[in-house]
Amino acid sequence: MSAPARLLLLSDIHLSRKRPYFHANWELMLRAIAQMPAPDLVIVTGDLALDGPSREDDLAFARAQLDRLPAPWHAVPGNHDVGGNPPDARGEHVVDEALRDAWLRHFANDFWSVDVPGWRLIGLDSLICGSGMAAEAKQADFLDAAITSAQGRRIAVFMHKPLCQHDVLETEMSTTCWFPSTRELLQRHVREGRIQLLVSGHLHEARDRNVSGTRHLWLPGLAFVSDPACEWQGSRGGRRRVGFVTAVMDASPVLSWHEPNALLNIDIGNWLRTGGIGLYKPLASEDQPYPGLFPTL
Ligand SMILES: [Fe+2]
Ligand SMILES: [Fe+2]
Repeated sequence: MSAPARLLLLSDIHLSRKRPYFHANWELMLRAIAQMPAPDLVIVTGDLALDGPSREDDLAFARAQLDRLPAPWHAVPGNHDVGGNPPDARGEHVVDEALRDAWLRHFANDFWSVDVPGWRLIGLDSLICGSGMAAEAKQADFLDAAITSAQGRRIAVFMHKPLCQHDVLETEMSTTCWFPSTRELLQRHVREGRIQLLVSGHLHEARDRNVSGTRHLWLPGLAFVSDPACEWQGSRGGRRRVGFVTAVMDASPVLSWHEPNALLNIDIGNWLRTGGIGLYKPLASEDQPYPGLFPTL
């Protein structure tokens, strides 16, 4: 029997050559993991770019940075990479063919599967769900085939947005998680016990709990937090501190949560005062205060 795989799980790194607000944490993470046992595989659950839909170079830069990781890696897109799920709920870019194509230019695929001892790891593009794009139907077929051909391996699914906050039957339609009308893609497999682990990013809030019958892990963001108090949140029950996770993929994955002292817990709560992602847009445009603030990387 092969030794269980050791995964490094990263999320929400929000890199940008033009506006490297959070780049220090990327460098500090690379230094931290260089002191740890090398992972077999790295998985990044989205929001690799600061604002890919506005500037494709954020995607190009993030891709170049991922190639500095000390192990093979796989990534799924986030809303800051390809745009949000339609319909738009907060004034951000919405995924379309052109934005998805830009992701594919730099990352080759947006849904994938890879096998490690005892497990099949499946990455999904949670932003195309509900889009009606051809890729949405292809992804659904891909997911069914990947699960039915797993030959006894346990199934872990990696995606950007959490499936839900507290219960898969909750009806709130929010950009926090999958829209209720799209959850069935995964739920039909969850109900039948075919998925053992769900892993997501997006919320910059870390949590590990059983949700409607399946272990659902929320990864911490590496780039920033958005809670002024930086304490445990009552509403979602997660921890809002920057960090990352390592997982030893035994039958029940053994997680280690890493919050190296050197990491910067940059709080963007003030950016969000206007609601939604309002301040990301001016940050991303060329005529706002920040151009020229940073040296070229
Ligand atoms: Fe994010
Ligand atoms: Fe996100």
